[in-house]
Amino acid sequence: MTKTHSVESWSEIDFNSEPFLTDFKQIYEALHSGGCPYAHSSMGDHYAVGSHQHIMDILKQYDVWKSKFGPALGYLETPGVLVSVDPPEHTFEVRIVAECFSKEIFEALRSEMETFVHAKIDAFFGDGEVDLHEAVSVPFPLFVIHKLLGIPLEDPDGSSRIPWIRDGLITSVGTMVEPASRESSLRRLGPDHSGVAGAIRTQNMYVDHLATCKAKLESGEWEDDANIVCRFLTKPGPDGTYLSDDKILGFMAFLETAGSATTTIMLSNIIHRLLTEPGAYERVCDDPSLIPLVMEETLRLDSPVQGLFRTNDQEVELNGCQLKQDTKVMLLWAAGNLDPEVFEDPMRFSLDRDLAKVRRHLSFGYGTHFCRGAPLARMEGEIFLNAILPRLKNLRLNGEVMMEKRIPVLQGIRSLPVAWDV
Ligand code: HEM
Repeated sequence: MTKTHSVESWSEIDFNSEPFLTDFKQIYEALHSGGCPYAHSSMGDHYAVGSHQHIMDILKQYDVWKSKFGPALGYLETPGVLVSVDPPEHTFEVRIVAECFSKEIFEALRSEMETFVHAKIDAFFGDGEVDLHEAVSVPFPLFVIHKLLGIPLEDPDGSSRIPWIRDGLITSVGTMVEPASRESSLRRLGPDHSGVAGAIRTQNMYVDHLATCKAKLESGEWEDDANIVCRFLTKPGPDGTYLSDDKILGFMAFLETAGSATTTIMLSNIIHRLLTEPGAYERVCDDPSLIPLVMEETLRLDSPVQGLFRTNDQEVELNGCQLKQDTKVMLLWAAGNLDPEVFEDPMRFSLDRDLAKVRRHLSFGYGTHFCRGAPLARMEGEIFLNAILPRLKNLRLNGEVMMEKRIPVLQGIRSLPVAWDV
């Protein structure tokens, strides 16, 4: 039985449709200019909110709006982690994560991160051209998250794990706003079932890694802080208990997805903006102090995540519409970032904005579930730009930029061909 219905004056949006995938920014702009930034999707049986203020209001009503059914359109049936739990469970998990996810731990990785990006650039520099998305934006965040998790990015035979990890990620994240149907499942499987095969191999990789961490800790070969998983295994929560194996496996899967798919998109979006906004690349090359603003303005205008879901624990009114209990409502970070009530001339990319005001964007969420990896994502962006800007002189687009349409919940680039002066 459906929980939602169309509402007079609200827009109808199908988040998986071609018009949406091609033109979502215009759709968000129209939501605002029409004076009613609310939408209904009969295809997905959910509502969506694009008003910056109302998204924040919802996220402050902890007793009503819950994460327990997960951040995707489907209702989560198995126990989740972090973004799929509410306090007090969330408080427990977050306390453990905070210890394993500190700024000091991120900073300790800085020089390895810099070396990684420079080595990537060294490898293609002499060619004068590359698909920057595939060459750096995809492997860099995966390198970082795998360093943190302690999982090698190569199989024992030396072959890269990135292709099948990516296949698995695209398959699992790709369905987040999709209503379950036989057609969609078959489409996701792909002609060679590579997406599902990738997801299964990735899950097995986590299971093996958990077993390795336990064995190495027991033998004394690894210390408690060898990697995040060892920390999870050895650090109790506030009540003295430890995360279960299921939870640790859930954390690995979540961190891989949350930490790589999003950051990859941010990195390519930044370069794309700099190369398509007249004079922007040169301006930032001349004045690298603009790097933080470039990152935040790109995050605002090109939010990597379109939006995520909450459900209401009780009947509630949403902008005049009475919602049944446990209705899926999508909080549209990307639309909130284009709200003219908060951002002047919101569709315009500008390096003359006030950084503090731009940082009001919702791309990292808001409130209880605010992104724990935001400092890491910002650090990756800064290292990436500090390596690319001084080295790739006269950087320019070099062919068609393809958009990534396989993952409707994310907005990003699939290939970014660029050239520079050698
Ligand atoms: C540009 C990159 C990133 C973007 C746009 C992003 C976006 C988000 C968003 C929107 C949320 C809120 C979810 C919600 O409210 O339902 C979130 C949560 C989270 N993110 Fe990120 N993220 C990024 C990078 C990262 C990285 C690099 C990591 C770590 C490796 C990370 C780890 C997390 C965690 C642990 C949470 C859950 C917080 C909680 O529930 O308490 N993210 N992220």
